[in-house]
Amino acid sequence: MQLLKLKLTNFKNYAAEQVELSPKLNCFTGLNGMGKTNLLDAIYYLCMSKSCLSVRDNHIVMQGASFFRLEGIFQTDMTEKLVAKVIPSNQKVFERNGVAAKTLAEHIGRYPIIVITPDDTQLATEGSEMRRRFLDNTLSQLDNNYLKALLFYNKILRQRNAALKSFGKSGQGSYNEALMQSYNKQMLAPAHLIFDKRKALIEKLNPVFLDLYTAISGGQETVSLAFRSQLLEHSLEDLLEQAKEKDRILQRSTCGIHKDDLIFKTENQPVKRFASQGQLKSFILAMKLAQYELLRLEKNKVPILLLDDIFDKLDERRVAALIELLLKREFGQIFITDTHSKRVAGILDRFDEDYKEFEIQDGRVSGLVN
Ligand SMILES: Nc1ncnc2c1ncn2[C@@H]1O[C@H](COP(=O)(O)OP(=O)(O)OP(=O)(O)O)[C@@H](O)[C@H]1O
Ligand SMILES: [Mg+2]
Repeated sequence: MQLLKLKLTNFKNYAAEQVELSPKLNCFTGLNGMGKTNLLDAIYYLCMSKSCLSVRDNHIVMQGASFFRLEGIFQTDMTEKLVAKVIPSNQKVFERNGVAAKTLAEHIGRYPIIVITPDDTQLATEGSEMRRRFLDNTLSQLDNNYLKALLFYNKILRQRNAALKSFGKSGQGSYNEALMQSYNKQMLAPAHLIFDKRKALIEKLNPVFLDLYTAISGGQETVSLAFRSQLLEHSLEDLLEQAKEKDRILQRSTCGIHKDDLIFKTENQPVKRFASQGQLKSFILAMKLAQYELLRLEKNKVPILLLDDIFDKLDERRVAALIELLLKREFGQIFITDTHSKRVAGILDRFDEDYKEFEIQDGRVSGLVN
């Protein structure tokens, strides 16, 4: 699957711009703050109906404008025109060949996409929410039922937490047992579906991940991802029952799949305390590429790969190794950003691949001849 043309209107610092893209490798160079990441984000937005930077729609729309619009021409087994029209907090439509998706959930997964940025190391250093987001991002693209279950679970969880809070505020005797039971009951089915799919995903991801880690690091150490969930040992029904008093006192839901986590291990030790920075980078990179590989294998389309700023944080040898790995492994279309145009060209010239280089300046894109 390839994105051949992209048209942006009022998207962040892009007032009106269009770009014709290479089906293989595309490099965007330019100084800080010019719009490189924004361009990748536009591609991500078209595929996932949200920003890869967790930015809300009202911050995406160009300051002073009331709407934004993205248009992409995709080549799959046919040519598809995809249009996103967004008026923040008002309208959000995704049209594929003129037909609007009924729900955004229906749209997600049609155009698989992965983004790799230096910030990904937060997967190891930050709290468990990042790691759950990694699982959710992968599974949402693989399985529509997963995404629906997740949206439903999160909705009930929000209501449940709000209820617990309101009981706490209004004092003794306000606890509504029947209401809590009703929330609990509604959570069970989606929680079990989410749990099962997360567990199965990690089992599938592990061998691919180990293989990629070895290729990237040349290391001999055995790395793995381990799933941590309260549901591994108890049924959610029992957990909720046991946590009744605790939830009531703390005024929030202390049990459920929103507590799941991923533990990164090398040689059976948690990575956090064990790995060097370089090892950590290789670890995360292998994990993201494993995500890519899995999407590629499970979907009928080769995902788009966005590589934002990886040159700035990885040394040149590692970047060259990464590009080589990408090209060797039948990767699809790739988008790379960098602040130095010579650096990208220097590396890419070593490979006999077709690529297009663009320079970005204040939300304007111009093609460079190479
Ligand atoms: N909603 C918006 N309206 C207008 N401009 C915006 C909006 N959101 C972000 N910008 C502008 O986009 C610019 C940042 O673009 P971007 O993050 O793509 O830069 P970059 O080229 O990736 O830079 P770096 O090399 O530092 O990563 C900033 O100057 C910011 O002011
Ligand atoms: Mg950037």
